[in-house]
Amino acid sequence: MAHESERNGRWATLEIRKAVLPVAGLGTRFLPATKSQPKEMLPIVDKPLVQYGVEEVAASGIPLAIFVTGRGKNAIEDHFDVSFELEHMLAGRGKERLLNQVRSISRLVEINYVRQKNPLGLGHALLMAKAMIGAEPFAVLLADDIIDAPVPCLKQMMEVFRRFGGSVVAIQNVDRKAVSSYGIIKGTPVADADLRDRLFRITDMVEKPEPREAPSNLAIIGRYILTPSIFKELASTPRGAGGEIQLTDALRRLLKKEPVYGFIFEGKRYDAGDKLGFLEATVEIALKQPEIGKPFRKYLKGLKI
Ligand code: G1P
Repeated sequence: MAHESERNGRWATLEIRKAVLPVAGLGTRFLPATKSQPKEMLPIVDKPLVQYGVEEVAASGIPLAIFVTGRGKNAIEDHFDVSFELEHMLAGRGKERLLNQVRSISRLVEINYVRQKNPLGLGHALLMAKAMIGAEPFAVLLADDIIDAPVPCLKQMMEVFRRFGGSVVAIQNVDRKAVSSYGIIKGTPVADADLRDRLFRITDMVEKPEPREAPSNLAIIGRYILTPSIFKELASTPRGAGGEIQLTDALRRLLKKEPVYGFIFEGKRYDAGDKLGFLEATVEIALKQPEIGKPFRKYLKGLKI
């Protein structure tokens, strides 16, 4: 592990001040719902998917979100902007609570936008944010993964980064038959009293392997803390799985040069990028809502299934 001073010498800061949210994907798994609206705007109960992600960024104390966006994604920009007409109307009708809710969305964090002109994958999306990130470590959040946790997942990872000083990827155990949907890591446990069995020094990783080729059942979930060294690796990473520039492949190159850690976070993760996961998130989040939780539970109990 590098010393504090060495690390400070390499990077402009050890603080995580920026989070990248790639949102340029086509959302084909949710067609036809996503024919004319971004999948990130599909609502889980009463908030669009992407808002859960931005709220996690804000709750982790990260002041700036960078959206890597694309064609047909304007609704995301409008959602996080001030809506003068709506606010004026709600104020005029005395709807204070709604007004505050609507206003607070545009005040969560500062947001910058950059376009990904070609859909060449997650690694390519991150490269688009390179100039906005500069020489500092940063977070990446994939909005498809909603994580309900007492301490926001990114915040947990920032603490690991602060202590160990290398890139950190969120991981969790998945069924062997599910490994081909994920980046899978191979790692050795890091002996640490606080993070017993939850932190691994990654020795290898592979994007979407066949179950028989997977080095473990530890799957990468859509949260990363990355050092800026990743950009050099991304720039020279050839297209991999699905013909896309894969972040997993770039991380695999990076771990030969500096430590990369896998961290089993605390919290429940929903894969809202998948129809079943989306429904699970909807049901569980609805059950926790103060207004509809009780009657919804009653309704579910009454279903003859
Ligand atoms: C991406 C990453 C993959 C990771 C997954 C987590 O894949 O490439 O390594 O396991 O996110 O959600 P995607 O789901 O975008 O295909």
